[in-house]
Amino acid sequence: MKTILKSLILLTVITIVSCGKNKKEDKFGNPTSNQKATAEAIEFPLAEKGKEIFEGKGTCVTCHKLDIKVVGPSIQDIAKIYKEKNASIATFLKGNEQPIIDSTQFEVMKANFAITKAMTNEERQSLEQYILSEGK
Ligand code: HEC
Repeated sequence: MKTILKSLILLTVITIVSCGKNKKEDKFGNPTSNQKATAEAIEFPLAEKGKEIFEGKGTCVTCHKLDIKVVGPSIQDIAKIYKEKNASIATFLKGNEQPIIDSTQFEVMKANFAITKAMTNEERQSLEQYILSEGK
């Protein structure tokens, strides 16, 4: 008898939890995080790959953190300014553009073009999508 009761309770809990997962909106009518993630995947399909490069072989994360300026401007600041100016991060990373954020520190960033110039277009696009996807 006890076991049946336990299974019933467990079943109820599972049902409640799994129903919650399928909800399309929270109580304020905003999309759930699941939906947000899907929307981001559609807008920035290469963002995941970009994050890997950013934190891996690109070594970008050494100088760029998500929301604070360290050696370089924060990822969010870069995203904001590039969105506002409708400029291309991927093109900048090819090494043919002037900086639009901080020309006084450009020499420090320039050293990285050795790495980013050797990347494929898709890799530079991935970095761009990752940065933009973190923007607000
Ligand atoms: C050694 C530190 C360092 C590393 C590593 C580094 N950056 Fe930077 N980055 C900077 C500094 C300093 C600036 C500010 C100067 C400037 O605006 O160009 C900057 C600026 C930028 C900007 C804005 C450029 C503009 O228009 O002004 C972008 C985009 C950027 N970095 C992307 C990257 C990416 C992507 C990587 C990895 C491939 C990377 N950075 C690696 C230091 C670094």
